[in-house]
Amino acid sequence: MSIFKGKFITFEGIDGCGKSTQVKLLIDALNRSENKTILVREPGGTTISEEIRDILLHRHLEDICDRTEALLMTGSRAQLTYEIIQPNLSAGINVIADRYTDSTLAYQGGGRNIELEWLIQLNRFATYNLEPNVTFFVDILPEEASRRKSQEKDRIERAGIDLQAKVRNAYLELVDRFQDRFVLINGHDTIENIHGSILLEIQRRHLFE
Ligand code: ADP
Ligand code: TYD
Repeated sequence: MSIFKGKFITFEGIDGCGKSTQVKLLIDALNRSENKTILVREPGGTTISEEIRDILLHRHLEDICDRTEALLMTGSRAQLTYEIIQPNLSAGINVIADRYTDSTLAYQGGGRNIELEWLIQLNRFATYNLEPNVTFFVDILPEEASRRKSQEKDRIERAGIDLQAKVRNAYLELVDRFQDRFVLINGHDTIENIHGSILLEIQRRHLFE
């Protein structure tokens, strides 16, 4: 049982799966129906977290080691949770996050082979034990995601299809492990259909009643 008045919804998936598109549509729909909702994206979202994002994605630090990557991702998350997510949820404002804890489990766990149980503990520490009310995993084949993405690739995206395939498999395992929280969405469907099924699932779970 959450102590917060606002609802916390997260979106997950490999790079280019279409989650930012869906996040924007959902925020607009919720705000139209007077469920005040804000967007955050990871890594980033606060001054400190954006600085961390810059180190992680935009500098050419190919020699960053896997554990440093995991610590910086969760460091960015701790600041975002403390500064933005918790205060908004306390005030009854809903928060939608474009990536959250499961990205660390899928990318640093599945992608970089760091032991999952460590990352779960690290996430608990970084989030002050906050868990999303629901997580939408937008599933798509890495080849299709790569076709959709522009040529502008960040450091992690440049690691290529093999990494994305490992990350996707890790997500599928998470969906299986955390069945109550996860909703599996077929990312190959049209933008409108996907948006429709997300709204239906939110209704089905009585999130806003
Ligand atoms: P992500 O945030 O997961 O990286 P985006 O939402 O930015 O993905 O989508 C990546 C690209 O694919 C964008 O050009 C977007 O317009 C397009 N796109 C998103 N959803 C779909 C879809 N269901 N079918 C076809 N193209 C899509
Ligand atoms: P971003 O440009 O936000 O990508 P996308 O639009 O696909 O979400 O870049 C975020 C990148 O960081 C993406 O490749 C996933 C990766 N990432 C991790 O590896 N671990 C994490 O914990 C998070 C939040 C993101």
